[in-house]
Amino acid sequence: MCPPAHFKVTYSINPWMDPAKPVDVPLAVAQWEDLVGRYRALGHTVEVLDPRPGLPDMVFAANGATVVDGRVLGARFAHREREAEAAAHLEWFRAHGYAEVHEPVHVNEGEGDFAVTASYVLAGRGFRASPLSHGEAQERFGRPVIGLDLIDPRFYHLDTALAVLDDAGDAEGTVMYYPAAFSPGSRAVLRRMFPDALIASEADAVAFGLNAVSDGRNVVLPQGAVGLFGPLRERGFVPVGMDLGELLKGGGSVKCCTLELRP
Ligand code: ARG
Repeated sequence: MCPPAHFKVTYSINPWMDPAKPVDVPLAVAQWEDLVGRYRALGHTVEVLDPRPGLPDMVFAANGATVVDGRVLGARFAHREREAEAAAHLEWFRAHGYAEVHEPVHVNEGEGDFAVTASYVLAGRGFRASPLSHGEAQERFGRPVIGLDLIDPRFYHLDTALAVLDDAGDAEGTVMYYPAAFSPGSRAVLRRMFPDALIASEADAVAFGLNAVSDGRNVVLPQGAVGLFGPLRERGFVPVGMDLGELLKGGGSVKCCTLELRP
C-alpha cells in the first residue's frame, strides 16, 4: 500500500475524476491509515511503498503489479500520467527478494484488471489492459486467464465491477459482481463459472462496493455499499465497512489501494 501523501486530482482519466473538485489530503491520509489499521487489526501484514511527488494516483497501489505464487508481473500503464509508477513497484519487488519479477510487454494495470481465483486469473479489458496482456499473464503465472469485456466507462477496471470473495480450495471460489458492467458474452461466462455469485445492484456498484478485499472471511469494502452487507453475512462473510470518501474522487477505493502479495 502507498500513502496518499501526494494525492490530487489534477487530470481526469476516468469518469469519477473531476479536477475542479478539491481534495482534502489530510483527510485522505487519515482514511487510508484507517484502512491500514483495519488490515493489521484483522491480522494481516501491510508493507508500505514510498509515495513519490508528481504521481498523485500512486495511492492506488493495486495497479502497480500482480503477484501470483510469488511471481511478479509488473504494470505498464495505459495513461502517460501514471507511467512512472510502474518502475517504483518493480524496484520495490526487486529490493524485497522476489526472484521472479517480469517487466510486461503489453499494457496492464496490475490488479486493476487481474483478479485471482483459486484456479484462474480473471482479466478485464476494454478500457485499460490490452487484451494481449492476458496471454502474457497466462504465460507468466501458468494459470488459465479468462478474458472479460468491460463496457461501462464508470467501471473501467475489473476491480470496480467484480471482487473475489473466496480463493481457497480447488473450486472456482466465490465472487460478487455487477453484471451490467460486462458484455453479454462475458456475463454468460461469469454465470457459467460462478452460478452462485453474489449479484450487486447498480447502487452498490456505483458506491464502489465491488472494490473490496476479502481474506476469505472478512470482506473489507466501502461503507456506502449498504446493500452488500446483508447478502455477504448470509454467505458467512464478515463485511467490514470503511470510509475512503476522499479517494473516491480519484475513482478508487479499498481494493484499488491494496496490492495483494500472494506468496
Ligand atoms: N485515478 C486512477 C486511475 O484512473 C484510479 C485507479 C483505481 N484503481 C483501481 N484498481 N481500480 O487510474
